[in-house]
Amino acid sequence: MTSGSILRSVVTGVGGYLPEKVVTNADLEKIVDTNDAWIVERTGIRRRHWAEEGQFTSDLAVEAAGKALAAAGRSAADVDLIIVATTTPDLTFPATAAIVQRKLGCPIGVAFDVQAVCSGFVYALSVADGFVARGMSKCALVIGAETMSRLMDWTDRGTCVLFGDGAGAVVLEPAAGQGTTADRGLLGFALRADGTKQDLLYVDGGPSSTGTVGKLRMQGNHVFKHAVINIAEAVEGAAAAAGVAVADVDWFIPHQANQRILAGVAHRLGVSEDKVVSTIAEHANTSAASIPLALAKAVEDGRVRPGQLLLMEAMGGGLTWGACVLRF
Ligand code: ACO
Repeated sequence: MTSGSILRSVVTGVGGYLPEKVVTNADLEKIVDTNDAWIVERTGIRRRHWAEEGQFTSDLAVEAAGKALAAAGRSAADVDLIIVATTTPDLTFPATAAIVQRKLGCPIGVAFDVQAVCSGFVYALSVADGFVARGMSKCALVIGAETMSRLMDWTDRGTCVLFGDGAGAVVLEPAAGQGTTADRGLLGFALRADGTKQDLLYVDGGPSSTGTVGKLRMQGNHVFKHAVINIAEAVEGAAAAAGVAVADVDWFIPHQANQRILAGVAHRLGVSEDKVVSTIAEHANTSAASIPLALAKAVEDGRVRPGQLLLMEAMGGGLTWGACVLRF
């Protein structure tokens, strides 16, 4: 990239929230024909969190957003843009982002949802970058928030053990950069979708088709095969768009779907698994929330530090997939 003064979207705060209720694999054994050894061996998942009855996606989002704002030294009064990536909105409308705006007490601004399922957070970051790096937002909240437990078919043991509830958020603010890869901020994206693969992973209901919410359906082994190939290609695409080498990345912050997918992608890219942040054991697949949850954990425990080069990647229903390079 040629140098010169440009606006960058810089992450100034990160926050994660998991509901209090913990459900271990052993707990699931009581309601589903499964066992801890199968789940751990095939997925790496040890526990997940479930939202309480009456606790909605927006409530999880508000908790994560509050932590991200505090970390950024900002308050709700500063927020002029809220984007929530979710596939489990409180209501068909209004957007969960508008509900979050009301619950946080933010002033009138822009608020809408992005629906790209597990890729939602990466998609939402790219949309927010369009506002922040054009000077249209001074303080943006990008939130991934999900109550995936509400989409489970508890008679389908191949899917219901894989998902959990949670939320993660980042604050994005504009900062002047030189237009080089040394700049802090979002540096490059690769976003993809292939609607012909809908049958591999979808929810079998919706307001316009069945008038119901529906349940999650997945051909897990087919999704698995696409995941490793697609994600690796998107990682290379995002690195090229940013003008960095995959080998330069300090930390990979992947969507937490399956430990074997994380390992498979790392192997395909020739990346050491030591550089891959994995939190799947603690919260299972929280769809759009999983990347900011993993980022929040790695910031909190001191692994991710300002100035480091991060690469976030995901794949989900659609199929959608994508990756993003960020200098933290
Ligand atoms: N407990 C015990 N046994 C089970 C369970 C369970 N929860 N689920 C399935 N089994 C059994 C099956 O019945 C089958 O038994 P059989 O051989 O007697 O017929 C056996 O385990 C193997 O089943 P498979 O479905 O072939 O298992 P596989 O090795 O493919 O693992 C899994 C399944 C974990 C779902 C894997 O395919 C996977 O992780 N796929 C990717 C899914 C994913 O990550 N999706 C999310 C990405 S996108 C997003 O995040 C929305």
